[in-house]
Amino acid sequence: MSRNVYLPYSVTSEKAHIKSMEQYREMHKKSLESTAQFWSEIASQFHWETPYDVNNFYSYNFDVTKGPVQIKWMEGATTNVCYNLLDKNVRNGMGDKVAFYWEGNDPEDYSKITYKKLLEEVCRFSNVLKSKGVVKGDRVAIYMPMVFEIVIAILSCARIGAVHSIVFAGFSSDSLAERMADCKCKVLVTADSVYRGDKLLNIKSLCDIAMDKAKNFGHEVPTCIVVRHLPRLYRSMNTSNGTNGSNSDIIDLHSDVPWTDGRDYWWHDEMDDVEPSCYPVWMSAEDPLFMLYTSGSTGKPKGVLHTTGGYLLYAATTFKYVFDYHPGDVYWCTADIGWITGHSYVVYGPLANGATSVIFEGTPFYPDNGRYWSIIEKYKVTQFYTAPTAIRALMKFGEEPVKKHNLDSLKVLGSVGEPINPEAWLWYYQNIGQERCSIADTFWQTETGGHVITPLPGCTPMKPGSASFPFFGVKPILLDESGKEIEGVGEGYLVFNKPWPGMMRTLFGNHERFQSVYFSKFPGYYCTGDGARRDEDGYFWVTGRVDDMLNVSGHLMSTAEVESVLTEHPDVSEAAVVSRPHPVKGECLYCFVTPNHGVTFTPKLSSELVKKVRESIGPFAMPDVIQHAPGLPKTRSGKIMRRVLRKVAINDREVGDISTLADEHIVEELFKNRPEKS
Ligand code: PRX
Repeated sequence: MSRNVYLPYSVTSEKAHIKSMEQYREMHKKSLESTAQFWSEIASQFHWETPYDVNNFYSYNFDVTKGPVQIKWMEGATTNVCYNLLDKNVRNGMGDKVAFYWEGNDPEDYSKITYKKLLEEVCRFSNVLKSKGVVKGDRVAIYMPMVFEIVIAILSCARIGAVHSIVFAGFSSDSLAERMADCKCKVLVTADSVYRGDKLLNIKSLCDIAMDKAKNFGHEVPTCIVVRHLPRLYRSMNTSNGTNGSNSDIIDLHSDVPWTDGRDYWWHDEMDDVEPSCYPVWMSAEDPLFMLYTSGSTGKPKGVLHTTGGYLLYAATTFKYVFDYHPGDVYWCTADIGWITGHSYVVYGPLANGATSVIFEGTPFYPDNGRYWSIIEKYKVTQFYTAPTAIRALMKFGEEPVKKHNLDSLKVLGSVGEPINPEAWLWYYQNIGQERCSIADTFWQTETGGHVITPLPGCTPMKPGSASFPFFGVKPILLDESGKEIEGVGEGYLVFNKPWPGMMRTLFGNHERFQSVYFSKFPGYYCTGDGARRDEDGYFWVTGRVDDMLNVSGHLMSTAEVESVLTEHPDVSEAAVVSRPHPVKGECLYCFVTPNHGVTFTPKLSSELVKKVRESIGPFAMPDVIQHAPGLPKTRSGKIMRRVLRKVAINDREVGDISTLADEHIVEELFKNRPEKS
C-alpha cells in the first residue's frame, strides 16, 4: 500500500496557530512535563468565580490495585460553562455575531441566531426548567432534531447545573425508555416531528411510547416539553435581528400531536411567560456537566459522565487547534448533536471560541447528492468536519455533484468516527479539499471527551489513514497481550496512563463498571478498546476495535486494514470484513463488498479482490470469501453492526436485536446473497 505523505496547508497559509512540527513538539512536551502550567494558562482565558489553584491543579489514580480510579482537575474552583460560552462572548462585544446558521432539511428553510439572542433564549429556557422544579444535579433528557432549541436546551441545563442526557433522535423508543429510566430524568425535552429527506418522523409519538415503557423500568417522567417544529415556516422568519422568528410566526399545521395534560407542555407557551435573564449557578469544576450513553459490549448502555472545568478546557482547546480556528471562519460539523462529536464540536468547542457554525437538519442526499457541497458554498464554510462513512457514500456518485459547487472557502477538512481508508482520504483531499486543505483525521471516543490523536493543520505532514500524533496533554501507549509497553515500531492495545482534562470521570451511577470496563484489563492504564500501530516515523495508525482484530494463522491483523485494501479497488464503494472460524487457520477472512453505483458484482471482481488483498498485505491475509453486499447493516449513526455480519458469515439466523439498524431488510438480503459453497 502506498503511504504517501501530504504537506499541510501551512504551505499556503502563514496564519496557522501551530506552524511547525518543532512548535508542536515543544508544546506537547510542555503539556506532559508541566501539565498544570500548560492547562492553567489556557484556563486563565475563562471566567472562574472561585479561582483554581495552580499548585493543586489535577490529581488522578488509574491503578485499580491501589484504590478507586479517580480523575480530578481544578477541584475547588467554580465556574459556569454556559457563562463562558455566551455571557463572556457577549460582554466581549460579540453579541451581534452569528453563533449558528441553521440550514433546514428543505433548502428553502434557513435561519440564524446571534450570541446575544442565544443567551436570551437560554436564560428564558433556564427559567422554564426551574419552573418545572429542575435544580442543580437533576438530569434532563433531550431527544430532538437538529434545531436551535436543542442547543438552547443544552446550554440552559449547563446554566442551572442540570445534567443533560441527550439521546440521539434516531434511537428507538425502547432505547430512549431505557436511558431515561437509567438516568431518572426529571424532564424530557423533545419536538413534535421532523422531516429527514422526504420521510416524516413523529418524534413526540415515539417519546410517548418511551415514557410509557420507562414506567416498566420504574421511572415516570414528570414533565415533557415539546418544540413545535414542523409547522414553522422558516422562510418567513429570517428576521433582521438574527432570530428564528417569534411565536406569532408559528402556524399550526399539526394539531394532532399526542398529548398528556399535566405532563406535556409546548416550548413556545412556556417561553412566553418567563424572564429573559437568569443568573448562572456556579458549579464546582468537578460537578457533572453532562452524561451521554454509549454502547457497551455487554449490551447495557454506559452513561459516560463528563464534568465542568476540564471538559470546557479540552473542548475549547482541541477545537481551536485541530480545526485551526480563527475569527471570521465559518465552521461546519455534520454530526448530530446527539453524539459526542455534536456535543464537543457543534456546541461546546465552537461556542467556547466564539465561533460561527452551521447546524444542518437534513441528510447529504436530499434533495440531491450535492447537498453538502451546496451548503459549503452557501455559507462559505472554512472548516468541514464529517465521517468517513459519509465520504464513502458520496464518493459513489463521482465528482459531478462536487464540481457544480465552489468550495474555495475550505481550509481544513475533518474526519471522525472510524479509521478513514486511504482511498476515501484521497478522494476527500483531492475532490473536496482541492489538494490545498489539511485533513484532520481525529481519533477519539465518547469517553475521551475530545480529540486525543490527530494531525494539526498547518504543521503535521499527513499520511492518508493515520490519525498521526497525540494532542496536547495526551501520551498514547501501546501494550502487548501481556501488558508490556511496546517501544518504537509495533502494534498493540492503545492505552493511556495519565488523564487529560476532558476525559470522562465515571459511568453514571456505576463506578464499579467504569473501573472494570476501562481500567481492569491492564491496571494503571485506561484501555480504549482499540488497537493501534506506531510506524517508523512515530505516526499512530488506529487499526480498529480490538474486538475486530483477527488472528489468521497466528498473524494479527485488523479488519480495517483489509477493508482499506478492498475499497482501494476502483469498483468498490464499501467493504466490511469479519472473521469466521476456520479449521486450519483458526480464523479466516469473510469480506462483504458493496460495488460502486452501476457496477455489477462478478466472479472476476471477486477474484481481483482476493488477489489485491493477497498482494497488499500478504498470502496469510487472503480472504476465503468475498460476498456481494448490496448494502451493509448500519446503525442510524452509520456504524456497521459487525455482529450481524459475523452471523451471516456462519449462516446463523439468530442475529439478535437489530432494531437500531437504519435498514433491517438488508440482513435478509445478505443471507440470500451468501455464496452457496461457503
Ligand atoms: O474505534 C474507535 C472509533 O470510534 C470509537 C469511538 O466511538 P464513539 O465513542 O462512538 O465516538 C465516535 C466519535 C469520536 C473509537 O474507539 N474511531 C473514532 N474516530 C476514529 C476511530 N477509529 C479510527 N480513526 C478515527 N479517527
